[in-house]
Amino acid sequence: MLDVKNEALAQIVDAGKINELGELKIAYLGRNGKLTKLIKKIKDLSAIEKKQAGILINEVKSTILDALATQKNTLKESARDWFDASIPGKKPKIGHLHLVTQAIREISSTFEKIGFVRARYPEVEWDWYAFGSLNFSKWHPARDEWETFIVDINPHPKYGPMALTPHTSSGQVREMMRAKNPPIRMLNIAKNYRRQSDISHVPMFHQFEGLVIDKGISVVHLKGTLDYFARNFFGKNRKTRLRPYNFPFTEPSFEVDISCGICKSKGCKLCKEGWLELGGAGMVHPTVLKNGKIDPSKYTGFAFGWGVERTYMMKAGLEIGDIRLLYSTDLKFLRQF
Ligand code: PHE
Repeated sequence: MLDVKNEALAQIVDAGKINELGELKIAYLGRNGKLTKLIKKIKDLSAIEKKQAGILINEVKSTILDALATQKNTLKESARDWFDASIPGKKPKIGHLHLVTQAIREISSTFEKIGFVRARYPEVEWDWYAFGSLNFSKWHPARDEWETFIVDINPHPKYGPMALTPHTSSGQVREMMRAKNPPIRMLNIAKNYRRQSDISHVPMFHQFEGLVIDKGISVVHLKGTLDYFARNFFGKNRKTRLRPYNFPFTEPSFEVDISCGICKSKGCKLCKEGWLELGGAGMVHPTVLKNGKIDPSKYTGFAFGWGVERTYMMKAGLEIGDIRLLYSTDLKFLRQF
């Protein structure tokens, strides 16, 4: 009996791996284990011997179990000290680009495929580029402090006061002056600022503005471009429609709607009778072309300007809930995209 115990303890201390300990446990205490075999022999002993043998066997058994447990702990401890460089590492959690960045990239690549070129113009802009050159009347409400953030510096003698750009259309005349000669195919994506903050408006938001000027450009080209965008950005069965509207810098002017992707234009909770409003568009007003030093008797053009945030949320099929969430740090919201 003591031989078995010593043999077992020696082997346990020698064991280098945890699964070896499992095997030793079976070898000694399993159904055909060495100790178990001894237990089976007890029945042949006399009554007194049986009692003594029983006590001894229990002691040996618990000694072996203790030794197994101690060695297991020792092996676990030492395993912590060595490093297996071949084990695959734990991947850190990776987030993703903010959805406004994703939107800007997708919108850019959609228009770049048909020859639009990205442009960027000042975020703090003279009144002339933001309003005056775009044919806004002197008393247009957008010029009022209530709509636009006017910058507190002395007005320029020619270009007037400065403001945080309220729309990407401020880049239209700058682009015409830069390009000098058409053709122009500009895509201006930029931050805009307006005095607004409610569930569907934030004071800083993004717009993307297309401007195309060439000989013989008509509403047909505008409609074709918008339908191309609808198919490629929103999905192949989506269509656009134009509704008459009024902007001082386009004539005629339109509001652009896109067919609802949820109800297939039948009318649902998300849309107005099958259509969702995207934003403004129109044919560039001759006065604006003249202000950009382009001859309106030779050239015509179209422009459109929509909100990036709004357009992207519509693509995701989300009801335009609280748009301010886009600029919060609520991961539950951001992870949806
Ligand atoms: N700038 C207009 C707005 O912010 C949109 C627009 C752009 C309309 C280009 C017509 C042409 O509402």
